[in-house]
Amino acid sequence: MSEAMQVNQAAGLHNLFSTARTQTQQDELDAFHQAASLRPVVPRARTTRTIAVAGGKGGVGKTTVAVNLAMAMAMAGRDVMLLDADMGVANVDVQLGLNPSRHIGHLLEGKCTLQDLIIPAQHGLKVIPGGSGIRRLAKMVNGEHAAVIRAFDDLIQPPDVLVVDSAAGVADNVAMFAAASDDVVIVVCDELASLTDAYALIKILAHDFGVRRFHIVANMVRQASDAKKLYEKLARVCGRFLDVALDYMGMVPHDEWLRQAIRRQGAVVDLWPSSRAAMGFKQLAGAVDTWGKPAYPDLGRIAFFSGQSAPAAGW
Ligand SMILES: Nc1ncnc2c1ncn2[C@@H]1O[C@H](COP(=O)(O)OP(=O)(O)OP(=O)(O)O)[C@@H](O)[C@H]1O
Ligand SMILES: [Mg+2]
Repeated sequence: MSEAMQVNQAAGLHNLFSTARTQTQQDELDAFHQAASLRPVVPRARTTRTIAVAGGKGGVGKTTVAVNLAMAMAMAGRDVMLLDADMGVANVDVQLGLNPSRHIGHLLEGKCTLQDLIIPAQHGLKVIPGGSGIRRLAKMVNGEHAAVIRAFDDLIQPPDVLVVDSAAGVADNVAMFAAASDDVVIVVCDELASLTDAYALIKILAHDFGVRRFHIVANMVRQASDAKKLYEKLARVCGRFLDVALDYMGMVPHDEWLRQAIRRQGAVVDLWPSSRAAMGFKQLAGAVDTWGKPAYPDLGRIAFFSGQSAPAAGW
């Protein structure tokens, strides 16, 4: 059916409902409903993979990993969107030097659509800003998280990948977005508090939200062997007490070029692509390509892009 016909049909229906119906109109309405019920339901092909970047502890590099992983995938030719789900703090805008005039708060107030919030960044990366200094956003209630998640179903052009930057902690604002994603990346660094907080987050996501698979990134480490040791420590404890599967996704070394990039308000993968940190992020992007198709959530779960239920192509 053409768009014009759909509009005409909708206008016709509106008229039918808004005035007292004659028998002829009632017959037309019945015929419309019958035709609608006979129309085959064609599922939209699902093409988006959603990756939440979380970590539990503050300052371990969640935003840095989310920004650079998203940018590295965009540089590799993927259509990538980055959602700043650390609402009210706006780390992503600051790291990428963006000055958005609208944010998720406007979406929740019905003043704009999700589409209106998209800001273009380098290499075609699209950013959905989380809003800055807005206390109400930091205290969103559950229905509001669900409303933000549901809004992704209406995007005109769903991206290949949606990367979600999470807040610190284990509260609902982290868990809801992580549980709605296909994959959860946990960022850890070499501090006891980072490992214990990561464990606490994994436990909550597993027990309360049924998340079973986690990809571990070791950030700010000196070398690969240190990263592997960190991963093994976390995997050992999780393996003993939780029914979850952890895999080692990769590592990002401690790198002054990365700090320099943040000061310049850019992504290190873009500004210094041959730095050690950038190489680490590119390897993380490569790891995503080895994950295989996302495990499709059942329809009862709130998921980003839940309307797109057919199997993805290209993963
Ligand atoms: N690989 C790295 N090498 C050097 N410095 C790093 C690295 N990763 C992160 N940093 C530094 O750590 C700081 C905190 O990183 P980031 O903001 O990404 O952490 P976060 O986990 O998102 O923090 P928050 O919990 O506050 O959101 C950065 O500003 C940067 O200076
Ligand atoms: Mg952050």
